[in-house]
Amino acid sequence: MSLPALNLAIVGLGNVGTGVARILTEHPERIVRRAGRPVAIKKAVVRDLTKPRDVQLPAGVLTADLDSVIKDPEITVAVELMGGLHPAREVVLALLAAGKDVVTANKALLHEYGDEIFAAAREHGRTIAFEAAVAGGIPIIAAVGQSMSANQIVGLQAILNGTSNYILSEMLLHQKSYQSALSQAQALGYAEADPSLDVNGTDAAQKLGILVQLAFGTKVPTAAFHVSGIDKLEQTDIQQATALGYAIKLLATAKLVDGKLQMSVRPTLVRKDRPLAQTHGPFNAVLLDGDVVGSVWYSGRGAGQLPTASAVTADIIDLAIGRAQLTFKQLDLWGESSAVPVLPESETYSRYFMRLIVEDRPHVMADVTDILGRNNISLSSVIQPEAPEVEATAGVAQVVPLIIMTHRATTGQIASADAELAKLSTVRPGRVLLAVAD
Ligand code: NAP
Ligand code: HSE
Repeated sequence: MSLPALNLAIVGLGNVGTGVARILTEHPERIVRRAGRPVAIKKAVVRDLTKPRDVQLPAGVLTADLDSVIKDPEITVAVELMGGLHPAREVVLALLAAGKDVVTANKALLHEYGDEIFAAAREHGRTIAFEAAVAGGIPIIAAVGQSMSANQIVGLQAILNGTSNYILSEMLLHQKSYQSALSQAQALGYAEADPSLDVNGTDAAQKLGILVQLAFGTKVPTAAFHVSGIDKLEQTDIQQATALGYAIKLLATAKLVDGKLQMSVRPTLVRKDRPLAQTHGPFNAVLLDGDVVGSVWYSGRGAGQLPTASAVTADIIDLAIGRAQLTFKQLDLWGESSAVPVLPESETYSRYFMRLIVEDRPHVMADVTDILGRNNISLSSVIQPEAPEVEATAGVAQVVPLIIMTHRATTGQIASADAELAKLSTVRPGRVLLAVAD
């Protein structure tokens, strides 16, 4: 015999919200079996009531009136799937104040207003569940917040943005242009409403921040670590990396170095034979290193309607059965004193790939390597593809690509060398500087 239904509101019935409504309405027996009671969608809040929806809901469920949720005491759980910061922040605070537990997939909101929202949940004795906010369908919040809790996580390497990974895969496997791959990612529902958040690294950085808070107890703003995206990459970078035996991935990393956190999100060359390099399309992957268990690997669809809805629905079931409080409590258990300091960006280190466009004339290579040498950067390889022999035209310099792989250097050393390279008249603007994963 099951308990009375859990009455639910979905606030935002777009890509993900529709997926959640579809799972709940298409698999009612499964939900009862897992949640111990039916889950009934009482309201679904949208902006535009005239828009066609890909899910059939009973009359009266679809509404543009958020108050009909806030003021209904029978609705005990609300799912925020509007996205963005405002009015999502105000909506979530109002839902908590009205005594509802909240499920959200909104990493931007948690990153920006997490402290305020978690405090409000505590004040009102409610829970926030956010499995879908990081890595879509991969149960990574449960893994880091609960399943790995016997460990101190000492490092993580992850692909956390499905849109960027889809674009990089299309550029590599189907020679698509950056722009057409981005348009496809938008059409497939992977991208944020503002896709610049995907391609400039912000979305992955927000997700890394959430994982780091769970794993290390430290809340790190995105401004405190290096964040760059795939938006400056060209087909030639993908090809040069391939020729060197690497794939380019937007990699989010965090690791403990002498008691400090080294964190970054940036396009990174990963050796082709590593599973991270073979993670394609909208898939995400997370490699965790725990001091007890060793390495643990998670992979799955990180964006898209049903994979994300799978994680949201699991949170709803957890709330119905009383399991969702666990991760939230875990956040509470970290005190201020356990926070791990973040290594300043200039002291973080990596190997690097540099692509320069240089004038094809005597002494250019010597000038470039001199700058790197004076900054104590050691080179591991230098490639300048052979250029055709052409007659010199007065005033017009022939240019060629110059690909340099370095040994480990700090970000400070690389930045200083790059600033000097920028002043060389023989080096063209548009230098590409990518990290190389160990
Ligand atoms: P979406 O397709 O743009 O849907 C947003 C929904 O919210 C729409 O139904 C929209 O109404 C509604 N909405 C927006 N502003 C509103 C307002 N002021 N009042 C009432 N309703 C409002 O977004 P999505 O792709 O489903 O993403 C939702 C959330 O999930 C975001 O936080 C996103 O970051 C996160 N997420 C998405 C994915 C993914 O693969 N897409 C994966 C993981 C997490 P209308 O339909 O009437 O316009
Ligand atoms: N826009 C996000 C991505 C959705 O592409 O990864 C999943 O959070």
